[in-house]
Amino acid sequence: MAARLGVVTGGAGDIGQAIARRLLRDHDAVLLADRDLGAAEAATRDLGPGCSAVCVDVTDPASCADLAAAAAEAGGVATLVNNAGAAAAVSLRSADAASWQADRALNLDAAYYVFSALADQLAARRGSVVNIVSVNGMGVFGHPAYSAAKAGMIHLTRLIAVEYGSKGIRANAVAPGTVRTRAWEARAAANPAVFDQAAEHYALGRIVTPEDVAEAVGFLASPLAGAITGVVLPVDCGLTAGIPALARTFSQSDDY
Ligand SMILES: NC(=O)c1ccc[n+]([C@@H]2O[C@H](COP(=O)([O-])OP(=O)(O)OC[C@H]3O[C@@H](n4cnc5c(N)ncnc54)[C@H](O)[C@@H]3O)[C@@H](O)[C@H]2O)c1
Repeated sequence: MAARLGVVTGGAGDIGQAIARRLLRDHDAVLLADRDLGAAEAATRDLGPGCSAVCVDVTDPASCADLAAAAAEAGGVATLVNNAGAAAAVSLRSADAASWQADRALNLDAAYYVFSALADQLAARRGSVVNIVSVNGMGVFGHPAYSAAKAGMIHLTRLIAVEYGSKGIRANAVAPGTVRTRAWEARAAANPAVFDQAAEHYALGRIVTPEDVAEAVGFLASPLAGAITGVVLPVDCGLTAGIPALARTFSQSDDY
């Protein structure tokens, strides 16, 4: 059987590394595609054999073509995880045209560029795509351009599922709630209680770990999910189901 290769964009980041570690359990090799090559190479040393790094700017279609060439050289991709992402402007008032376009470029356009560059390889292996979106693409939790882009990425997931299903490609999305990663560094520095305060709103009373996200990705990329395509799976400790304090207020019941 041909070797199974996973590609993880933003693979040097905290969630990206957890996804790579999970994919290495049932893939032969994982390629970390990140614009920070030094961090990606350091991650490959931690992750061990089977893992390699490539410098890619996912917002640049030419760089995505280089990624496709590297993946082809490594045997062709079976699982693509579009994980690179970040949020800039925190509110509509603080956004401007440049920050709006930058958030959209990284959190929506890039997933289209990477998928398009790798579509033929994925089709050749009846592979699968997992897009890392966010609860921000499902409800309003701040960071508007990022959120609008993630909502677009959810729809891109459906577009891929419907157009490429006949080629055997499945496409699904994972929507994490709050995950303590380096993306939160500035907010955690400004408010050291930010994660405890966030956890109070989650039904499970805790926030999400990178491993929680990675396990969902591993499932969706596996044959166990062979009939699942076009869905968005929240990995959010219940946030999108409802908020206990609001249920308590609305019902005036201490049962919540
Ligand atoms: N941390 C959270 O609370 C949270 C919640 C929901 C969704 N997410 C999503 O999870 C994904 C991973 O986030 P994280 O928290 O691990 O962030 P992170 O900052 O730890 O990792 C992001 C990685 O993406 C890379 N990257 C950024 N721009 C790039 C580009 N143009 N080309 C290639 N690589 C690029 C960075 O170098 C970094 O290694 C993102 O899509 C994010 O939106 C995170």
